[in-house]
Amino acid sequence: MNKDKTILRALAGERQETPPIWMMRQAGRYLPEYRATRAEAGDFLSLCYNSELAAEVTLQPIRRYGFDAAILFADILLLPQALGVDLWFETGEGPRMSTTTTADELAGLRATADIHETLNPIYETVRILSRELPRETTLIGFAGAPWTVATYMIAGRGTKDQGPAHALKAENRAVFEGILDRLTEATIEYLSKQIEAGAEVVKLFDSWAGSLKGDDFVKYALNPAAKITQALKHRHPGIPVIAFPREAGEGYVGFAKATGADCIAIDNSVSAEWVAQNVQPDSCVQGNLASSHMVTGGDDLIIETKRIVNALKGGPHIFNLGHGITPDANPDNVQIMINTIREA
Ligand code: CP3
Repeated sequence: MNKDKTILRALAGERQETPPIWMMRQAGRYLPEYRATRAEAGDFLSLCYNSELAAEVTLQPIRRYGFDAAILFADILLLPQALGVDLWFETGEGPRMSTTTTADELAGLRATADIHETLNPIYETVRILSRELPRETTLIGFAGAPWTVATYMIAGRGTKDQGPAHALKAENRAVFEGILDRLTEATIEYLSKQIEAGAEVVKLFDSWAGSLKGDDFVKYALNPAAKITQALKHRHPGIPVIAFPREAGEGYVGFAKATGADCIAIDNSVSAEWVAQNVQPDSCVQGNLASSHMVTGGDDLIIETKRIVNALKGGPHIFNLGHGITPDANPDNVQIMINTIREA
């Protein structure tokens, strides 16, 4: 392991005096340089598939702030697109997709072996980044977790309560489970190619894990994460995995042990003190400053940042937000957060 890579050291379980830092959505609309490159690309999806420009926006927050990790610029919905689903973004509203809710539609998805035709530009972005990043910066690849991606495929759009996906689960469990199985299989191949191209860590985003309860949480969030993690570690021994079962609450407890993930990313619905007691004893943790502080700044930003660093200083910790930074964030607040952590 390159000892300069503080993120890899944290993922290996090392407690560090100053936690390494990166931010979800660190390449995004709050940055004027991102908006300029996105305008040059035309639209968001064209930016994702333009390897040179996607690498450029990935590097922008590294140059501006010196984050310890860069996350590949892409989207979790590119994988279903590679499986043959129609995908587009409605300005100001978010993603739209053709729906997959019947046995015929499930059977009509493209074979897993054929996803790379669509996704090759993403692997090229990873290759460019692994050449161009500073030697101390860790490159993170990612995919959506099967449940979260399925919620978009089933509804054809983002939903507040994932109602259509829960309805399909109740009405046609075979098709519902078939979609998750197809996604689990394809996610392993997708992440495997990212690792071969140079991703040093992979993260699994399960943004809607919090709406799965009890047995459903185990079957549709935990088990797929375990299957993906174990398959990747079998093929790529030592590859660190970050799992983000967002808003899992007590489901965070034991998630690392049960899946084999090296780090659990934590949203801001639980306190850092609770995380230190209940999650950090088993694994590295990442989180969990509320992204609203990047908008509002002031004393609260500094107090909360210090509180999180302090609460989690007894074990391996990667500082991050609880969710992605929003377009209305003030770029100066990001610098204040970083200074607060590094000067603490
Ligand atoms: O963290 C990063 O910077 C890496 C790149 C990344 C993006 N999306 C870029 C993006 C990652 C890891 C994602 C994950 C993602 N995408 C998730 C899971 C994490 C989460 O935020 O909950 C989800 C649910 C999606 C699907 C998605 N993509 C939605 C719902 C939207 C629209 C919401 C919005 O912010 O407008 C996107 C678009 C998107 N993905 C943007 C970015 C930077 C904004 C696109 C733009 O420039 O307009």
